[in-house]
Amino acid sequence: MIGRNDPCWCGSGQKYKKCHHDADVAAGKSVNSIPARNPMIKTPAEIVGMRKAGAFNGELMDYIRPFVKAGVSTEEINTLVHEYIVSHDAKPATLGYQGFPKSCCVSVNNIVCHGIPSPREILKNGDIVNVDLTSIVDGFHGDSSETFFVGNVSDDASRLVRVSGEALLRGIAAVKPGVTLASIASAIEPFVKSRGFSVVKQYTGHGIGRNFHEFMTVLHHIDREGSNLVLLPGMTFTIEPMINLGDYRVVTDRKDGWTVRTKDGSLSAQFEHTILVTENGCEALTLTPSQKTAGVLLKLP
Ligand code: MF3
Ligand code: CO
Ligand code: CO
Repeated sequence: MIGRNDPCWCGSGQKYKKCHHDADVAAGKSVNSIPARNPMIKTPAEIVGMRKAGAFNGELMDYIRPFVKAGVSTEEINTLVHEYIVSHDAKPATLGYQGFPKSCCVSVNNIVCHGIPSPREILKNGDIVNVDLTSIVDGFHGDSSETFFVGNVSDDASRLVRVSGEALLRGIAAVKPGVTLASIASAIEPFVKSRGFSVVKQYTGHGIGRNFHEFMTVLHHIDREGSNLVLLPGMTFTIEPMINLGDYRVVTDRKDGWTVRTKDGSLSAQFEHTILVTENGCEALTLTPSQKTAGVLLKLP
């Protein structure tokens, strides 16, 4: 329970009585049943864990990047990912997660997300392929994804992937303490629409920490119910806009219960990073130094 002189649950650093006490009373909350800590705000020790998990997941992305090429099956990508993770004393978060059968998601062309790696699916020239990696390091999760070109892709595909990468960067650039979660969608959707593409509404970013998906829903599209949750230092969540060449609607495979495809059959692309809100802005925890210098998101082949 929070006391009047305790630091406010919101993480502002001010005493509760000077910060949210009056607002809580006005909102009709019972002030002696408010937990002392906002579970969305990570402690310094948890932030150390999240940095480590994020850095590891970024290194895993660096490792897998050269293997994503024509002739490789999505199953082989999964095996490489799995072996890298377990040989570094980490765990693949997706394996067995709500019954998901593999150690990463690989989503080719019109597959929007949650593609299940398969030995029957061989990458070919012209494909675009999203590899979504999530690892657990000492109990903390890192979650990121990148869409790759296989050989030479069409102009449409290339534009879609570049816009998806830029959509994520614009979302990240909007993150700082004091702004609402809704500012992320405002930074992403108008930009994507201006390029003639659509933002998937059915899947969102999410809080992340000791759990894969934690409280906090990060919409990438503008919604009347868009969250007015105010971002505060220490919050960790993902931004992961899925961008379709055509219509935003998606359908889930009825047989496997996982594979999500565009309803109209058009291409879809996605990039994802795990983000930490800092005092001045934010950090992409899953972005490695090599990605920063290579400008992976901006200078695609
Ligand atoms: N990595 C995905 C995300 O970004 C979730 C995959 S869940 C799975 O949230 F079960 F499909 F693996
Ligand atoms: Co995610
Ligand atoms: Co992911």
